[in-house]
Parts: sequence; C-alpha cells; structure tokens
Amino acid sequence: MTGLPKLRTFVAEVARVVEAKLDESETLAPPKLKELIVADDWLPDAYAAADGRAYRQYQLYADPLDRFSIVSFVWGPGQGTPIHDHRVWGLVGVLRGEELSVSYTRQPDGSLRPDAAVRLTKGTVAAVSPEIGDIHAISNGLSDRSSISIHVYGGNVGRIRRSVFDATTGSQHEFISGYSNEFAPNLWI
Ligand code: FE2
Repeated sequence: MTGLPKLRTFVAEVARVVEAKLDESETLAPPKLKELIVADDWLPDAYAAADGRAYRQYQLYADPLDRFSIVSFVWGPGQGTPIHDHRVWGLVGVLRGEELSVSYTRQPDGSLRPDAAVRLTKGTVAAVSPEIGDIHAISNGLSDRSSISIHVYGGNVGRIRRSVFDATTGSQHEFISGYSNEFAPNLWI
C-alpha cells in the first residue's frame, strides 16, 4: 500500500471527535479505532519494529495543539510497561498479537491492588482515563513474537508529566515518556 490513507482518515476522525468536545463516554467509544485495527495492512514496518531492549512507542501523529496523539506500541517477547498512569483519556486497540492488561486500584494503606489480568486479543479496544481508572500495566501476551497496539490519547502523551508506581509501597515518581521515533510518518504521500 502506498501512503497511509487509513491512518490519515483515522487522524481526521479523531480530530473531529476532539473538536466536537463530546462527553468522555462518547469519546471512549470510537468505532473508527475498531475499523483501523481490523485489517493489519497499513502500519509501516518502521513503526512496527520491536527492540530487543525494551518496548517501543512510535508517534504516528500528534496534534499541534496537544489535544490528542496516536501511537503504535510494540512489545517484543517478554516486554511490558511498568505500572503507570496517563492523566488523560486513552484507548488501546490491538492490531497484532495479544496483550495482557492489569489495572490497579489504590488501597487505603496506599498500596496498589492489581485486578485480574485481561487478555486483549487482536481487534480488542480497551479504555483508560482518570474517570474510569487510569493506572495499569500492559505486557506482551505472546512469548514467541511481537505484539502491537494502536493507542489514542486525549493529549500529547509523549509530553505529559505522568507517574510510574511501585505496587507494594504505592510510591510513585514522575516521568515524561517521549517517543521512540525521530520522524513521524508522512500521511500525505
Ligand atoms: Fe498505558
């Protein structure tokens, strides 16, 4: 496939949703993300490449007003995120492989209690936000190959000051993730 018409169409759709300032429940139910991840035929290899050292987060598009961002996350075998938050709404749509998502809830003693792991299979969309639960960890659900998901956030997630957590103590420290790629895809060729 030449060019990225599917991603370009999706970027426009997210821009329309953000521009409409819908309720969060409406924002978190976008059928277009399902459509985007059903067919695994559009993500360029450069944004689907695993790294042997750690998972990758490739910026596919970031709104110049920081209202939203779209990212491909690539987990190699055995790779996963630390426990983290987002501070904005987010959607996770599995494009390739399978992922394990564990949500955490703050306890009265300050620790973080994990919920049961949820296996996200190809085509599945999951949501996070400060309203519905914002602390989780995601890892590759497959031991023999990479898994990839497309994430959409209600802010420029690579620039947001967020936290990673220790589940036992509940302690947290701030980080800004940035992105793994130097160049974003050209949607216009
Ligand atoms: Fe996350």
